[in-house]
Amino acid sequence: MCGIVGYAGNRDVVSVILKGLTNLEYRGYDSAGMALRDGDDIKVYKTLGKLINLKNELESRKSELIQPTCGIGHIRWATHGSPSIVNAHPHSCTCGKLVVVHNGIIENYKELREELTVKGCVFKSQTDTEVIAHLVADEYSKVKDLEKAVRNSVSKLQGAYAVCVMHKNVPDLIIGARKHAPMLVGIGDGENFIASDTPAIIEYTKKTIYLDDNEIAIVTKDSVKITDADGNEVVKKVEVLPWEPIALSKLGYKHFMLKEIHEQPDVIRNVLNGKLYDIDAPIVLNEVKLDKDTIKNLKKIEIIACGTSLHVGMAAKYIIENFTGISVEVEASSEYIYRKTTTDASTLVIGVSQSGETADTITAIKQAKEKNAHILIVTNRPDSNMARLADSLIPVNAGIEVSVAATKSYIAQMISFYLLAIHIAEVKGTLDDVYLKNLKHEIIQLPTKVEEILSNTTTIQECAKKFSSFKNFIYIARGVNLATAYEGALKLKEISYINATGYAAGELKHGPIAMLDETMPVLSILMPGGITYEKILSNSEEAKARNAKLIALTSSKDTNIDALFDVVLRVPQVSEILSPVITCVPCQLLAYYIAEFLGKDVDQPRNLAKSVTVE
Ligand code: G6P
Repeated sequence: MCGIVGYAGNRDVVSVILKGLTNLEYRGYDSAGMALRDGDDIKVYKTLGKLINLKNELESRKSELIQPTCGIGHIRWATHGSPSIVNAHPHSCTCGKLVVVHNGIIENYKELREELTVKGCVFKSQTDTEVIAHLVADEYSKVKDLEKAVRNSVSKLQGAYAVCVMHKNVPDLIIGARKHAPMLVGIGDGENFIASDTPAIIEYTKKTIYLDDNEIAIVTKDSVKITDADGNEVVKKVEVLPWEPIALSKLGYKHFMLKEIHEQPDVIRNVLNGKLYDIDAPIVLNEVKLDKDTIKNLKKIEIIACGTSLHVGMAAKYIIENFTGISVEVEASSEYIYRKTTTDASTLVIGVSQSGETADTITAIKQAKEKNAHILIVTNRPDSNMARLADSLIPVNAGIEVSVAATKSYIAQMISFYLLAIHIAEVKGTLDDVYLKNLKHEIIQLPTKVEEILSNTTTIQECAKKFSSFKNFIYIARGVNLATAYEGALKLKEISYINATGYAAGELKHGPIAMLDETMPVLSILMPGGITYEKILSNSEEAKARNAKLIALTSSKDTNIDALFDVVLRVPQVSEILSPVITCVPCQLLAYYIAEFLGKDVDQPRNLAKSVTVE
């Protein structure tokens, strides 16, 4: 979603901000803008669409600029008001002296807008953000101190915000403030940064201060001061970012998504590292802060997540129930937060999120926390807001994921759940020794099996070409791979805009079968060795009888099935319970190659955001 970059320093301010915004653009946006302190003036530039348009605009108006000394930039993902230049950030107060960029949603913006209009403020946009510009300017006219003006103003805002403010009368100063939306300060040598996320600054500094809710950062090129809501200075820990700038490079791949799919074997190794290294040793999961008795007595686990992370949760239900016998409920965060739940102090609540910033999941976790449930967060961002709510935190260490469509974070979360389920099973003693050893042995082999798939993608590419003209798709599976069917269909929808739906194969005949004909291909995920293989084969026959084109995703060596299916995507053999780790990869690749073949913007699909920080 939206992204913020602020910079004060001696480098080329325009380039630093553009670079920072470029490193945030994977989050999804529809317009961009920048405000630059240039001599005594503040100059504002805004464009619709991709950052290249802002870059070109700045280039064409280069002669207007003398030497900017600081600036704030923004990419906007429209919430209030359509994507347009007038609605793009930065927004200004009526006289144009104060500029602001904002991530989040101001819930009481209508009331504030009315009050400020009565005071004579002239609004130009339909955004909620513009009220912040007028509000701070109004306060500043009274208190004549920008820091105080920001502090007084943000106390009147309801909702979520990460804001950066500059004022014409206060040279070379950027003020940042946050509540329920991430913001950090990057510390450099003779230069400082403010940003909504770390990729924006990683090329310049790894030293970071994460702001907490209600804190305000007062930043110049030579100084950083953080205060609380009362104006008291707060001493904050300077953290060192774990990522290298190289993580933001495509390393020769056409798209980040393809690069990230290919990183998955190493991602699995990373997750296993130090946790599962010997089939005779128990899983080491020190991150789980529940004592053995609590684990033994666990009666219910609730998994709360959105999107792809929700699909991980769906597979995790099968895995945890299978290994431990503990009942698991899985729910979309957006549903959990608007109903009376049965979560209580004895429930283990697991929030799953690659970004750690998904607003609905954060709200759900806060609600569960209020009920005194133990909160376990599984995330790729241990530095996120969600991670801070955790009683137990499992960082999945997939490395930064740039493509909006999640791939390597999915597999990393999935592996984390296998480790968690085995850990619980070992404490409870619910799996026998031989089974456990075989299971661990197989898990250790998973990276090699994924490598095998990635080493030859010709059949998947041919299949993508063959099926790229279809407008609809159905994915079917049963059991633990039902989540793969949902996730495979979601991947296809997200990046190719083809209508695709995942169904439990047994449900096909209860409605979806009515849609089947030669225009509706069916992808069946059928892994032999389990109890559902034959059943899915029959479901596929039923689809064939309705003239549907069929794709099989299977490890079956049975060549008889080649006559039933139009294409067979073969994957290495693995136990059914572990197979989602294997089956997800061809689904990711199929979606990727179809989208690529159709010429879609694979890494930044339309309307989507990597980090959904609004409800
Ligand atoms: C967005 C992303 C999805 C992601 C979902 C949940 O919609 O585009 O890829 O699955 O948010 O995000 P989370 O960060 O909580 O996993």
